[in-house]
Amino acid sequence: MCGIVGYVGKRPIVNTLLNGLKRLEYRGYDSAGIAILKESQIKVIKRTGKVDALREAVDKVSFSQNENELSIGIAHTRWATHGAPTEKNAHPHLDEKGNFALVHNGIIENYASLKEHLIGKGHKFVSETDTEVIVHLISELYEGDFLKAVAASLKQLSGTYGIAVISKAHPDTIIAARKGSPIIIGVGNDEMIVASDVSALISYTRKVIYLDDGDIAVLRAEEVDIRNIDIIPVTRELAHIDWDANAAEKGGYEHFMIKEIFEQPEAITNGTRGRLNFEDGSSVLSGLGYSSRELASISNVIIAACGTSYNAGLVGEYYFEDIADLPTEVAQAAEFRYRNPIIRPDTLVLAISQSGETADTLAAVREGKNKGAVVAGICNIVGSTIARETGVGVYLHAGPEIGVASTKAFTCQVIVLLMMALKLGRAKRFSRQRGIEIIEEIIKTPDIVREVLKRAKDIQKIAKKYAKAENAFYIGRGYLYPVALEGALKLKEISYIHAEGYHAAELKHGPIALLEERVPVIALANDIPGKDKMISNIQECKARKSPIIATATEGDTEIASMVNDVIWIPKCSQFIAPIPTVVALQLFSYYVAKERGCSIDQPRNLAKSVTVE
Ligand code: G6P
Repeated sequence: MCGIVGYVGKRPIVNTLLNGLKRLEYRGYDSAGIAILKESQIKVIKRTGKVDALREAVDKVSFSQNENELSIGIAHTRWATHGAPTEKNAHPHLDEKGNFALVHNGIIENYASLKEHLIGKGHKFVSETDTEVIVHLISELYEGDFLKAVAASLKQLSGTYGIAVISKAHPDTIIAARKGSPIIIGVGNDEMIVASDVSALISYTRKVIYLDDGDIAVLRAEEVDIRNIDIIPVTRELAHIDWDANAAEKGGYEHFMIKEIFEQPEAITNGTRGRLNFEDGSSVLSGLGYSSRELASISNVIIAACGTSYNAGLVGEYYFEDIADLPTEVAQAAEFRYRNPIIRPDTLVLAISQSGETADTLAAVREGKNKGAVVAGICNIVGSTIARETGVGVYLHAGPEIGVASTKAFTCQVIVLLMMALKLGRAKRFSRQRGIEIIEEIIKTPDIVREVLKRAKDIQKIAKKYAKAENAFYIGRGYLYPVALEGALKLKEISYIHAEGYHAAELKHGPIALLEERVPVIALANDIPGKDKMISNIQECKARKSPIIATATEGDTEIASMVNDVIWIPKCSQFIAPIPTVVALQLFSYYVAKERGCSIDQPRNLAKSVTVE
């Protein structure tokens, strides 16, 4: 999510690090910092905001560097997870003696207990981050051997990390390590650059080593030595990158949207990590901040959101009703304050917003607060206005979403809503056993999504076949009704085909008049409750000569025999089905738009964040 760069060699250190950060800025941009080791001192400069703000601050300080002098430093651009985007929370972090500096991507799950332990040993912390514990731990365990101290510290961490560390006592060495968060080493001629993403190092070298989980790399200008966590040497291959810088930013994908579609298994894993409690069959959502008793006293839920977030809210309505026994309404945020919504002191107003900046959703939050509701948010961007104004809520941890058409934010919103419903339900009548069953399904979700992604080529073939259509309908029932709306929204956003999502039964109350052979119908016919009735709805559309593309549960020959094209979805319950199904529809829209030559990442007339009413 954040970006890491480190360098040891003879290039001008400040520019090398800042240029690397600049290329990573698309991954996180709420604050940035550098640490440079010179004359046995570690100099740190950090700024909130973009890399340019850091560059301005650095320009004011003179970092003299003689030609041929070895230079060494690390840098970071942050996408906040723990703690607001402030200068104190920005990386690099130092131990209190200023002997070590460290940058980190990922989430340390046991940071709270480690922090308590280190405070007990006299360490003083200055930030709210999980990262700071790592550098204190290294300094605590350091007995003269840098590598040993890092390895011993990493052994105590649970969660994910990609790190780079420098030490005053070892002015020619960077140590980098990886578990769950990418770290790549660029191998140059008498120089090494370490980064979280190839885009940061591609202008210096094309020879790279990808670290595996559990690897620790000791970098000096002329050599890299890779060990496992037990300090036993391991061998990693040298790879050659032939992407250009633009492609590198997109991880080799043609567009951010397709990259983000493919990131979904990882995003869901990040969003659920440490949040599932098997023992209680419940979820751990500490940001919600309400006790079980307070949660149990909530009488109804009003979800307020716009666009894709609104569609995720509609899936949430099913979860809250089925799992948490809560009457739920999904309100278009834009209309919320112009109606007279019935809000009681025990009403939960839940604002969903990827950006956390959508003006209408923010206005709904303020209206909910004015009327005395319990207000919470589901946002992706830490420290965004909605996150701050609600004060309580759940972050998606989906990572930055750059493509204007929202993809991974939707699936992560759905999974967060499921975890939230589970928590509310468990505070009331939902049984532990059923809770455990849902958790087991959540755990399988990333793999189910991977199965859909493996079929991207099949979906592309179908998309090519229908790319010339000018109108399309998406129909769904039950848990797949909101997915029909989201599928249609995705198609119109990026391909400019006029697409409508309908409840399958509603189609015959008007829109059916528009069906004919040039108007495909995408029928969500997975094997979950509602499928039998969907079969009749498919027949109704066929009778009007519309070609039918169905999503169906793997092996469902009954559906396959009645439609023109099938997109197969792995078997899963109705609770999970919206996720793989929407991923299939995202791929379909993407390939249709590509076939039509559309501007996929920045569709005409649309903005990623709509901050006007
Ligand atoms: C814009 C974007 C949509 C997004 C909607 C709500 O219209 O183009 O992709 O779903 O805003 O954004 P939010 O950040 O509040 O989820």
